[in-house]
Amino acid sequence: MRRKLLTFVLAVLAALATAGIAAAGNGGLAPVQPASPNAHHIVTAYWVIVAFTAAIFFLVEGLLVVFIWKYRSRGRPRTVEGPQVHGHARLEIIWTVIPVLILAAIGTFVFWELPGIADAPKAAAADETTVNIEGHQFYWLFRYPNGAISIDRMVAPADEVVHENVIGMPFDVNHSWWVPDFGGKMDAIPGRVNHTWFQAPSGDYVARCAELCGIQHAHMDGVVHVVPRAQYDDFIRARAADPTGTGLGQEEWTGVCEKCHRLDHVYIGPALGGNPLLANREGIETLLRNGQGNMPAVGKNWTDAQIDALISYTKQFAKTGTGS
Ligand code: CUA
Repeated sequence: MRRKLLTFVLAVLAALATAGIAAAGNGGLAPVQPASPNAHHIVTAYWVIVAFTAAIFFLVEGLLVVFIWKYRSRGRPRTVEGPQVHGHARLEIIWTVIPVLILAAIGTFVFWELPGIADAPKAAAADETTVNIEGHQFYWLFRYPNGAISIDRMVAPADEVVHENVIGMPFDVNHSWWVPDFGGKMDAIPGRVNHTWFQAPSGDYVARCAELCGIQHAHMDGVVHVVPRAQYDDFIRARAADPTGTGLGQEEWTGVCEKCHRLDHVYIGPALGGNPLLANREGIETLLRNGQGNMPAVGKNWTDAQIDALISYTKQFAKTGTGS
């Protein structure tokens, strides 16, 4: 009776565990479908390591179950001791050498894959773009080669090598730039510049901050909007031509201010609707550059044009408190 109950409980647990995996599609076990060559290499390395570890897991756990069954007590008195075995040179050599070989195989494979992950493919200068990515509490700021700026939404040319300089602000905290479709994470460490790259077809790719960076870490996300080259060129040209415009201003409002503020109610910080500061160039600059109380200096390194852009958008909220 007890054995039947045990079998039943084990069967139910197994069903529950596998149902969860089935519901999660890829089981939450597999990385997302890679959209960039370096992500391909990372996924390949992932599966090779999974194969080794899964084989070891089933071998060890399988033997464990076999031994538990084979050497069960069968009614022997508890005080009877098993045979006392001392050393077995051949066995010990085998179980030392095999793990060493496995580790060497995994290590060799990963080092073999590494250049494909770290190094971007060689491309003509005309087919390369470098975007500086700054991590701030709690937004991503993108600076393009012609001086254009965008926030939380990076625009990039399709099918070309895009170099990313992931920059940690000396006055900020650690963040981590992560676009799962492009593979690995890249930390934004204050005072350092890290480099990564991608090459992806047109599409929208979700970006996340993958380093706990403060109260709104979970909302520090963005999108990489990969478009044909001509569309990318149009975007950065228009942005650079209108650096104080509401296009950037609106992104600053939603990407920077609204991470912690709402117009009509207290959120992380106080409600902002009707606050005359939203139309006060000098006052808002002081606040953005220095921070205040719990508010970090979110605009410490902003250009004057960036502050003008914010004002051009927020002045509508200074009187009415609601705006559009
Ligand atoms: Cu930035 Cu988490």
